[in-house]
Amino acid sequence: MVYVVIAAISCLIQLVSAVLAAGLIRLTERWLAWSMISAALLFMTVRRFIPLYTMLATGSTASINPTQEYLGLVISILIFAGIIMIRPLFYAIKRSEAISRENEARLEHILNKAPFPIIVHAEGGDILRVNKTLTDLTGFSPAEIPTIDDWIEKTHIKKEAFIASIDRLYTRSENKDDGEFTIRTKDNRQRVWDFISAPLGELPDNRKLVISMASDITGRKQAETHLIEANKQIQEAFDDLIEALARTVETQDEYTASHQRCVTDLSVRIARELNLSEDQVRALRMAATVHDVGKIYVPSEILNKPGPMSTLEFELSKAHTLHGNNILKSVRFPLPIAEIVYQHHERIDGSGYPRGLKSDEIMIEAKILAVADVVNAMSADRPYRPALGIKKALKEIQKNRGTLYDPQVVDVCVRLFEQMDYSFVESRCEEVASSTS
Ligand SMILES: [Fe+2]
Repeated sequence: MVYVVIAAISCLIQLVSAVLAAGLIRLTERWLAWSMISAALLFMTVRRFIPLYTMLATGSTASINPTQEYLGLVISILIFAGIIMIRPLFYAIKRSEAISRENEARLEHILNKAPFPIIVHAEGGDILRVNKTLTDLTGFSPAEIPTIDDWIEKTHIKKEAFIASIDRLYTRSENKDDGEFTIRTKDNRQRVWDFISAPLGELPDNRKLVISMASDITGRKQAETHLIEANKQIQEAFDDLIEALARTVETQDEYTASHQRCVTDLSVRIARELNLSEDQVRALRMAATVHDVGKIYVPSEILNKPGPMSTLEFELSKAHTLHGNNILKSVRFPLPIAEIVYQHHERIDGSGYPRGLKSDEIMIEAKILAVADVVNAMSADRPYRPALGIKKALKEIQKNRGTLYDPQVVDVCVRLFEQMDYSFVESRCEEVASSTS
């Protein structure tokens, strides 16, 4: 009786295994294999059921072989266990396929809807996808650019830079890489694209997948170029204006002509030594070039008077800073030219004119201009006295270092003359004058 029960259990297990195997048919692409396994198990069930049925119908147990029944049960259990264990694996594969199909559909949707060009490419240079926007903008169909090499050849994009940019993502696991590239379209138009590339995962063969998206910034680049050009032209117009103003004062006073150029040269040298910003140096250069423009309001008889000025004449001469400020502030320079000129006779102890400004109230550009102005004025011939020479001029600024003149500016000026072979040479000053135009 025991063997009958064992045979019945074996039969039942094989039947259940056959049903479970049939359930796997729809989960796998290898449906034929699982159909055959299921059918084989079903036949085994029938094969075991027939003698069992005969035995139960006739009541004879002569055909029972105990060893065979035990082995049959063990085999049935093993098959059942195997199928039970393998089922979750197929369900997992099915689920992952569904997820991957969903991702694929999402990517397809993004690619088709994105209003910007997209390239999906894999390590090794295969281009797996390009979207419609890219094809519309470049004129190249996906079939025309199957690899990165084709893309480079067709669009004339800068090869080394583009390869380096995507290689960084392939090899160094960077999160993203970007860069501006100029490309040529199929109809030979030049466009500037700003690329952003990012890793998109890995292919089954472990190659890294990268997505490169671009925005067409051609219009913006052209606008920037025009803006730079327009700024340059405005700057040149300002320089021309400054030069014209400088020439105006020079026609009235011969000495002022070379004086303004030499003061400009020395001021710029000091400013560079003090690491002033480019804008500060530019403002100082322009201000120094016309720092005595206000003298056009001072009678030339006073300016060229041989001998010392009277108090009234000196007061009239001093007003040139105010006049200079008034002339220059009527032009809306982008730099504080008028203010520097206004302050160039101020002294740090407040003894200067016209406003008696002190130390921090005076711009560094004006402090430099003040020192350069004094040094050049003293070292040159004046109508009322012969040149005192550069040594006396340097002695003067050193004597008043920290009282009239900024100590740092004085130190740099002295160093230029005494250690850096600086000198006022007419031709050198002319060079500077032409470089400001
Ligand atoms: Fe002056």
